[in-house]
Amino acid sequence: MFSRIIGTGRYLPERVLTNADLEKMVDTTDEWIRTRTGIERRHIAAEDQTTCDLAEGAVREAMSAAGIGPDDVDMLVVGTTTPDQIFPNVGCLLQKRLGIHGCAAFSVEAACTGFIYALGVADKFVRCGEVKTAVVVGAETLSRIVDWTDRSTCVLFGDGAGAVVLQAAEAPGIVSTHLHADGKYKDLLYYPTGVSKKTPEREDMQDVLTMRGNEVFKVAVSTLGRIVDETLAANNLDKHDIDWLIPHQANMRIINATARKLDMPLERVIITVQETGNTSAASVPMALDMAIRDGRIKRGDRLLLEAFGGGFTWGSALISY
Ligand code: UT7
Repeated sequence: MFSRIIGTGRYLPERVLTNADLEKMVDTTDEWIRTRTGIERRHIAAEDQTTCDLAEGAVREAMSAAGIGPDDVDMLVVGTTTPDQIFPNVGCLLQKRLGIHGCAAFSVEAACTGFIYALGVADKFVRCGEVKTAVVVGAETLSRIVDWTDRSTCVLFGDGAGAVVLQAAEAPGIVSTHLHADGKYKDLLYYPTGVSKKTPEREDMQDVLTMRGNEVFKVAVSTLGRIVDETLAANNLDKHDIDWLIPHQANMRIINATARKLDMPLERVIITVQETGNTSAASVPMALDMAIRDGRIKRGDRLLLEAFGGGFTWGSALISY
């Protein structure tokens, strides 16, 4: 038994924040942002829009593309680091919106690797025969945890959501997923506060996303190189056997490095970073949906999805679409 993608969707909030807008907010330039990151603009959720709102838009599209209704869904898994509230989890909130009752619904928190983790988990449930149809989502409102006065981070991130519907099938589908983490890097990229960390230091903690960008960059490039090797080796494939690379959209220079590793021309890499910035768990499913809808990715193509994020967490999925 395998799981196969039968529908995809994405949702980007309407409000666009350009590099020119950011020039008015912090000491930065369009030129710096473009050359260091590839980002030109990002979408920002409206005041009253939550992660669940964005996820709902993406899931409705994915379910409609898959031709399924609420009663068909056996499991809902949401990769997110910016949930609406601590609980109920975004999966449960989505169930209520979509009229889905009774199936398992939960969030997976793995920062930018959240969607790949969610996909890996859902795939296992389908493969073992427990679930026939699963909705898998990556959704974030990172704009809510970014320090809009810190030029080293605020230019990088954006909001959005992407979703896929998986269904049991006799042939892949998802060929393999590879999930990893190493908490020794916890201090390079983090959001400091939560619920249970009530220590004296908490008073001094700033409630904002914090990143040592240059150090993250170096580990990201080498780690993504390794996960690409691992995925190819696990499936006895050569780098030239991949039709499309769908990378996490954090930085064009990181994407370039992974494409080079695969000896892959950029025409075979799905790139949205210029339009969306880094949307964390939403970035891979949004890129996937875009390239399926615009006709670049076709049935039978072999896809390599990868992501890297805070934790550090990292992972990949090899998919025969
Ligand atoms: O998705 C999760 C994983 N996250 C990532 O993968 C992000 C990884 N990191 C990166 O993408 C890059 O490290 C950044 C884009 C964040 C930064 O690029 P960099 O080439 O590593 O720059 P840097 O941090 O070494 O900073 C270079 C200079 C510094 O000035 P000095 O010290 O050389 O005078 C910064 O203060 O650029 C300065 N700088 C800026 N200048 C203009 C930092 N941010 C800005 C800015 N505008 N927005």
